[in-house]
Amino acid sequence: MAQLVCFHPECRTRYAITDVVYNCAKCGGLIEAAYDFSLDPAALKKCFRERRMSNAPLDQSGVWRYRELFPFLQDFSSVVTLREGNTPLLESRAAALYAGLERVAFKHQGFNPTGSFKDNGMTCGAAQARALGMRRVACVSTGNTSASMAAYAAAGGLEALIFLPHGKISFGKLAQALEYGARTLEVEANFDQILALVRALAEKLGIYVLNSVNPFRIEGQKTIVFELLDQRDWRPPDWIVLPGGNLGNTSAFGKALREALAIGLIGRLPRLAVIQAEGAAPFFDFVERGGEFRAVENPETLATAIRIGDPVSWPKALHEIRATHGVVEKVTEQEIADAKARIGRAGIGCEPASAATLAGIRKLTARGVIDREADVVAVLTGNLLKDPDYIYRYHTGKLEAPDGTLLRSTFANQSTVVPNDPDRIAALLA
Ligand code: F0G
Repeated sequence: MAQLVCFHPECRTRYAITDVVYNCAKCGGLIEAAYDFSLDPAALKKCFRERRMSNAPLDQSGVWRYRELFPFLQDFSSVVTLREGNTPLLESRAAALYAGLERVAFKHQGFNPTGSFKDNGMTCGAAQARALGMRRVACVSTGNTSASMAAYAAAGGLEALIFLPHGKISFGKLAQALEYGARTLEVEANFDQILALVRALAEKLGIYVLNSVNPFRIEGQKTIVFELLDQRDWRPPDWIVLPGGNLGNTSAFGKALREALAIGLIGRLPRLAVIQAEGAAPFFDFVERGGEFRAVENPETLATAIRIGDPVSWPKALHEIRATHGVVEKVTEQEIADAKARIGRAGIGCEPASAATLAGIRKLTARGVIDREADVVAVLTGNLLKDPDYIYRYHTGKLEAPDGTLLRSTFANQSTVVPNDPDRIAALLA
């Protein structure tokens, strides 16, 4: 039995799983999907493993392989899969040493079909849109959600309407939306302002919203955690570290962990560590200071994916931080840039927002919050090629922080122009 439920602990108003609802009609609270699970954990683990040898599209998807853990569909005819998920866990000794750990593994969501973790959620959001008979889907995005939505909409025959903060998303991501054929509008406002705009328009125009306020996106993103646990033979790590922007992923990770524990797939909860960029860190400030949640009015960071000042999912994220005895940290532009270069040098690479994880771990080990010997998984949310402009600037000593200060290119690697002359090139390389 699947239902939609108001997340607010004192409200918990229930809605049909087929209702189009992003906020509770009674109290305005966030909405989540809820199920009466009655599952045999050992049989499930065996089934998930066997599906890895299957050629059926649903089994090949690193999301739908775990479909018993988000049973919101009556049947699977509406599913659009691009074989999302299936992302590797990559260990790096060099990155671990940089961050003050003995070892670290990266769960690299940049290996997804559109290059970010959004695909895990979008395949579910698109499936629900199609199951409901929706024709048009929309989102506001710092770039990755829009790239993902555009792809799944195109593959699933939906019309995609994308709203972007003008001039504040990387070209790689904008290019994806255009190539996948989405109707793309660049608005002269920031992410938070445009989200309000999209929600007002959605009601007016009957458009299905595929931002992470959509509870089915969160259901899909749970599988990032299920897959990483499966890859570790269901041994939970001590810590799972991820960047925080709109905080949908933090909400999904916590829900996945709590459900995995309740079903008996794992015996204890890892701790979540959420890392924000210093210029866009309202959740860090809130958890640190307490009191009222206060939005950051003009969020700024070169990690444009997480340039969000008023994250809608903060109540869910707060619940998950408490449930997992988690922590929230913030990192500077310099720390992100250098950590990103170290991840690159490890042969792994990622986009700027993802590198906040390693920068955050480095701070948390220095502060003694994370032990040197701890078993840590950092989630790299986006592919290196999402933002090549940032990389080029870093390595050529031209990367400026939003306030105009030049960042140090600590680990720069520059190319050299040479004449077409074997002797001179040999001399240079000797
Ligand atoms: N990392 C990357 C690469 C992202 O694109 C995002 C969010 C995050 C981290 C933060 O995740 O919002 O769930 O806390 N990008 C959204 C977008 C906002 O529009 O693509 P979150």
